[in-house]
Amino acid sequence: MKKMVANTLAYIALFAMAFSLAYASDPSPLQDFCVAVNDTNAAVFVNGKFCQDPKLATPNDFSFSGLRLPGNTSNQLGSMVTPASVAQIPGLNTLGVSLARVDYAPYGLNPPHTHPRATEILTVLEGTLYVGFVTSNPDNRLISKVLYKGDVFVFPQGLIHFQLNVGTTNAVAIASLSSQNPGVITIARAVFGSKPAISVDVLTKAFQLDKDVVANLQSKFWTDNHTY
Ligand SMILES: *[C@@H]1O[C@H](CO)[C@@H](O)[C@H](O)[C@H]1NC(C)=O
Ligand SMILES: *[C@@H]1O[C@H](CO)[C@@H](O)[C@H](O)[C@H]1NC(C)=O
Repeated sequence: MKKMVANTLAYIALFAMAFSLAYASDPSPLQDFCVAVNDTNAAVFVNGKFCQDPKLATPNDFSFSGLRLPGNTSNQLGSMVTPASVAQIPGLNTLGVSLARVDYAPYGLNPPHTHPRATEILTVLEGTLYVGFVTSNPDNRLISKVLYKGDVFVFPQGLIHFQLNVGTTNAVAIASLSSQNPGVITIARAVFGSKPAISVDVLTKAFQLDKDVVANLQSKFWTDNHTY
């Protein structure tokens, strides 16, 4: 009897482990693909999106030409991220990967941000980038480097990271991400540009700033350097 209880507990522990592992990244697909459709009449429901009948799949469901052209970097950051995720490529649904093209004007910045659902590996196609991420508390160590054409850098899931074009020419990079829908939280925009605004009392204390500085930051326009 005692042994049975012990076995049952062991099974429960195993299940708990398996589930926590499964939720560490996108769920594993249980079919070759699941082209996302909006039409609920022609659909089954898998991993958060409706799947198109696989017999109806076309090459275009797995393709996207939107990374051919540079993004428009005429904004106050001088950068633009063009994603190729499940919103652009319905055939990515359930597959756990995506890409983005990042364009940088000279001195353009992809400002500190995190991807809540993905690790990123970035390849520099053109130009010179100063990149980095900061580790979790309590150390908050900056791990940074200058990258040249052809170099690759990893930004671990959830950590705050950035890229600055330190060259005098345009720069281009391709980011590969371990989620079909990595998400993005731009730190300054989320904190000072939230709608409705976070109470000034929170931000004065959190950032050790005077009230008028916080009010000024909250009144600014915070660029979102992403297309959707
Ligand atoms: C599905 O619907 C959403 C919201 O109405 C829309 O933004 C999206 O483009 C649609 N996707 C497809 C593949 O039609
Ligand atoms: C780029 O964006 C700026 C600012 O929104 C706009 O004025 C300009 O027309 C855009 N350029 C192109 C080529 O779309």
